[in-house]
Amino acid sequence: MADTFKDIRQMYSLTGRNYIVTGGGQGIGFAITRAICEMGGNVAVLDVRDQPVDAFKDLSKQFGVKTEYLQTDVTKEESLTSSFEEAIASLGSLDGLVPAAGIVIDKPFVEQTWDEVNKIQQVNVMGTFFATQLAVKQMRKQDTPGSIVLVASICAHQAAPGHKLSGYHASKGAVLMLAKALAVELAPHNIRVNSISPGYIESDMTRTLRQDHPHLVEIMQKCPPMKRIGNPNDLTPAAVYLLSDASAYTTGADILITGGLHAGRIEANSLD
Ligand SMILES: NC(=O)c1ccc[n+]([C@@H]2O[C@H](COP(=O)([O-])OP(=O)(O)OC[C@H]3O[C@@H](n4cnc5c(N)ncnc54)[C@H](O)[C@@H]3O)[C@@H](O)[C@H]2O)c1
Repeated sequence: MADTFKDIRQMYSLTGRNYIVTGGGQGIGFAITRAICEMGGNVAVLDVRDQPVDAFKDLSKQFGVKTEYLQTDVTKEESLTSSFEEAIASLGSLDGLVPAAGIVIDKPFVEQTWDEVNKIQQVNVMGTFFATQLAVKQMRKQDTPGSIVLVASICAHQAAPGHKLSGYHASKGAVLMLAKALAVELAPHNIRVNSISPGYIESDMTRTLRQDHPHLVEIMQKCPPMKRIGNPNDLTPAAVYLLSDASAYTTGADILITGGLHAGRIEANSLD
């Protein structure tokens, strides 16, 4: 019987595996990139920024892995496809994907323009959809197992307190459902698809929201039952779990990491 137990540290290891992370130039995508490297994986980051955050350049040496940065716009078919080809050529093969590139807009529903909503859908939905399609094509070509972790949001589950994010909600609902549909369609090919749904997480995205809408400072800190905003380190263990063999029997799952906000919220004005 004891022989059937596996080494749990080994199950979480990503050593020698190859990953692509979109939106990994900063924020949550960078934190996940760093965590993959720390667990032994090689990562190609595809992001629209000219350069990733400074810490990116240290990852390769720090963790003895291969890293690559390819400036890419996930909304442009040509840009995404050619960067994928370059990433695969550099990594050699692909074991997993985290399409984390995303944007948000906080505006009343009736004021959101065609251009604004179209842009959100292009980045959050189309970018995720086609990055995932390219990853799956590669995994099918290799005929190897794979794991894909989509980045949904608490906004795929409920209206975010204090915000007006209808276009963003619509996009993240699509991402959540895409993960479930692909989990079923791709299970016979041994490709697992799961999602994480973060609540309020410290990043440029939430910093900009707070600058534009100061009332959100208190909401982000106080509405989650755990009474703090999350940080990217609160998400990385779940991403590693879902990418690794530790989650070998998990597909179509969504992990809500919200400080409890999805279970209920504490109204900011009722708190000390
Ligand atoms: N921060 C939060 O509270 C929160 C909560 C739930 C979900 N999310 C999701 O997490 C993901 C990461 O967000 P973040 O908070 O780190 O934001 P962020 O703004 O810090 O990072 C987003 C990254 O996506 C990249 N990006 C944007 N448009 C792109 C494009 N067209 N092509 C390629 N890259 C592009 C940006 O350059 C940036 O590096 C997003 O999908 C976001 O919707 C964030």
